[in-house]
Amino acid sequence: MELDQSHPAASDLRAACRARVPRFVWEYLDSATGTEAAKAANRAALDAVRLRPQVLLGKLVPDLATRFLGQDHAQPFGIAPVGMSGLIWPGAEAALARLAAEAAMPYCLSTVATRTPEEIGPLSGAMGWFQLYPVGDPAIRDDIIARAARAGFRVLVLTVDLPAAARRERQRRARLTFPPRLTPGILMQVALRPAWALGTLREGTPRLRLMEDYLKTAGPAASTAHAGYLLRANPDWDYLARVRDRWAGPLVVKGVLNPDEAVRLRDAGVDAVWVSNHGGRQFDAAPAGLEVLPAIRAAVGPGYPLILDGGVDSGLDVLRALAKGADFVMLGRAWHHALGAFGARGAAHLLHILRDGMLADMAQLGILRPAQAAGRLAV
Ligand SMILES: Cc1cc2nc3c(=O)[nH]c(=O)nc-3n(C[C@H](O)[C@H](O)[C@H](O)COP(=O)(O)O)c2cc1C
Repeated sequence: MELDQSHPAASDLRAACRARVPRFVWEYLDSATGTEAAKAANRAALDAVRLRPQVLLGKLVPDLATRFLGQDHAQPFGIAPVGMSGLIWPGAEAALARLAAEAAMPYCLSTVATRTPEEIGPLSGAMGWFQLYPVGDPAIRDDIIARAARAGFRVLVLTVDLPAAARRERQRRARLTFPPRLTPGILMQVALRPAWALGTLREGTPRLRLMEDYLKTAGPAASTAHAGYLLRANPDWDYLARVRDRWAGPLVVKGVLNPDEAVRLRDAGVDAVWVSNHGGRQFDAAPAGLEVLPAIRAAVGPGYPLILDGGVDSGLDVLRALAKGADFVMLGRAWHHALGAFGARGAAHLLHILRDGMLADMAQLGILRPAQAAGRLAV
């Protein structure tokens, strides 16, 4: 595969993406909040995990297949929800959903995607997860949940780590608004990125289609705040109970960093906790999910499903997260770097990079199943 020579690492896809998307789009995708210490902590925590290789084990044929939340997956990782995905690369949601279905890998569609659950659910087959931002109006919330179920999404992910809009200073400096306002400065950035511009013309201006269904009367004002805020609520434990009542399938809560909260979520009937600092986009003093993961694992016990994200961009990183106590790993930015670099072909290439890296490193570790990485932890 030629891309395997020219772009062998996720970092190559990141660099290629940066050269192909307008600056305001890059700033949206790449930025965190504040000094970006929390984002840096994600990477630092991964780099700090050392695993002990083993020798003289003879022929090893590692297998990445992983059962998680009652479903067989071809590998222990998937695609995290990214709002306005279709702004980053035209047609992103559909491309990622198709890849997920083909690759037996979860794709989590965001509440603030540019495509509706009805459009994306059928494309992701049994691999569709739907991410819900806490919507205030119970009728709207319940309607969204019902639509996600009807569209075939199997897992509901309630994101709880946005009690307020983060400042996201880089996005402000880049004059990013939702929906994007076509100022002369933005138009100039677009003109410099013809592949993105043509693709966006073809796919239509990215809009928050699901949100718009409910905002028709109010009419969304362009804002630097996250579009989910137009309808948001600050959820509490009662809110969680209502969502649990409404959703028959597996329910995941995303954005948890405290062991005691993870235990309480488990006891409230949540099927998995997603340990995450939201890619460093919400609270700059947050620890990396990976730093707190061992304490959360210890608190919830060995059998309870835990998901981790934050800074993951190689097969080795996936193994590091599993070694520290995760059962499943999700990546956000990396899939979008891949799309920005080479469209759907880029995302398929990233899948190859991650799988191939995992297989090579499992051979180094002398393990046959990804979960066995826990037994090779050196630090
Ligand atoms: C551009 C962007 C948009 C995001 N939008 C959402 C979202 O709509 N809902 C959500 O739960 N998380 C959202 N996240 C957080 C991701 O789901 C995930 O937690 C984070 O990106 C993981 O870190 P990584 O990008 O380093 O892999 C977003 C992240 C990025 C980078």
